[in-house]
Amino acid sequence: MKFFVDTADIDAIAELNELGFVDGVTTNPSLIMKSGRDILEVTKEICDLVDGPVSAEVTATEADDMIAEGRKLAEIAENIAVKVPLTWAGLKTCKTLSAEGRMVNVTLCFAANQALLAAKAGATFISPFIGRLDDINVDGMDLIAEIRQIYDNYGYGTEILAASIRTVNHVKQSALIGADVITAPPGVLKKLADHPLTDAGLDAFMADWAKTGQKIL
Ligand code: E4P
Repeated sequence: MKFFVDTADIDAIAELNELGFVDGVTTNPSLIMKSGRDILEVTKEICDLVDGPVSAEVTATEADDMIAEGRKLAEIAENIAVKVPLTWAGLKTCKTLSAEGRMVNVTLCFAANQALLAAKAGATFISPFIGRLDDINVDGMDLIAEIRQIYDNYGYGTEILAASIRTVNHVKQSALIGADVITAPPGVLKKLADHPLTDAGLDAFMADWAKTGQKIL
């Protein structure tokens, strides 16, 4: 399973990248706003840091403008995946840009039929938003499972990029279902290492080690 980091925070990306945990990055207009940075500048820095796909989102709502924005974003670097919303205009943009050989991430997916359309439009990635479905009392993991089954039924190559990940459990469930990629905030990725029994076990080992009076170095 690939790990993408859902942030435009360069320091956070760099920290995880050092451990080899960053297979790609996703950003969106809210994350750019949070970074306080210029979209073109910060996206270029991210692309220079990370080898994998870096999603940069268009902000126009009409297809022609989306396509123009997508082409401009794609000029930033080879590893840009142009992110478009799952609207009719977004699907048209996806079809055009993927036919030009560009990576496209179709975002804001909340239904299996939407994911089917994205695959047919040639999307590289489909981003179903788990957390936002959970927020309205719909189990986001059911959507991941439905898309997995539909894509496997017909052999679509579009990668399922489980997004709006809020908890470590979302990561585990996405992996069990077979999502190709998860994108999660740095804090969630770091929490994957946590377990109270690891902490308790280490405390006990350290206490016993101190009683031996030994040192390794
Ligand atoms: C994905 O590409 C989105 O940027 C992101 O996962 C949205 O997450 P949120 O619902 O926590 O804002």
